Amino acid sequence: MKEVMAEVLFSPEAIAARVKELGAQISKDYEGKELVVVGVLKGSLLFMADLIREIKTPLRYDLIAVSSYGASTSSSGIVRIIKDIDVSIENEHVLVIEDIVDTGLTLRYLITTLSSRQPASLKSCVLLDKPSRRKIEITPDYNGFVIPDRFVVGYGLDFAQRYRQLPMIAVLKPEVYSAEKNGEKEGN
Ligand code: PRP
Repeated sequence: MKEVMAEVLFSPEAIAARVKELGAQISKDYEGKELVVVGVLKGSLLFMADLIREIKTPLRYDLIAVSSYGASTSSSGIVRIIKDIDVSIENEHVLVIEDIVDTGLTLRYLITTLSSRQPASLKSCVLLDKPSRRKIEITPDYNGFVIPDRFVVGYGLDFAQRYRQLPMIAVLKPEVYSAEKNGEKEGN
């Protein structure tokens, strides 16, 4: 799949090192507490799987799937839950795991929705942050890497559901997505 990559932004080793650091920080911050980790499908799957193995505090995890309603998330800002978590988060310490924050609309929706369920605390951990694309002001509590406004794939991130299995995070060659993209949000 090398032929679709314009540039590797983060190698598997760089990702693993940063995930380890995030895990250590989270373990320190939640010492003596139990966490409920909520992974946002589908992009966060690989990140979450690696991150939780670096968290030393006890935790339970669950998964949530969200989708934009009608038009693209970035243009409408209307998000809905496709698959909710099964566990109650009332009085729990909740950490939402995302692969990327772009406009911020998805994360804002998740924070608003989950906070209405009265958790003891609610924080977010994202692997990639694209602050230049933000439409609303929101800052993740934990952040792996700040990236420029490039179309990235790998380590869970997709273009048209593909390339999620790449072990690195890479910039996709514009010619790969320009033909298909057609104004539709396909990834990030
Ligand atoms: C991506 C990503 C976030 C959202 C961020 O999801 O996983 O959930 O977009 O964008 P925003 O900050 O502009 O709201 P996507 O819809 O691509 O789904 P996926 O995780 O299944 O790939």
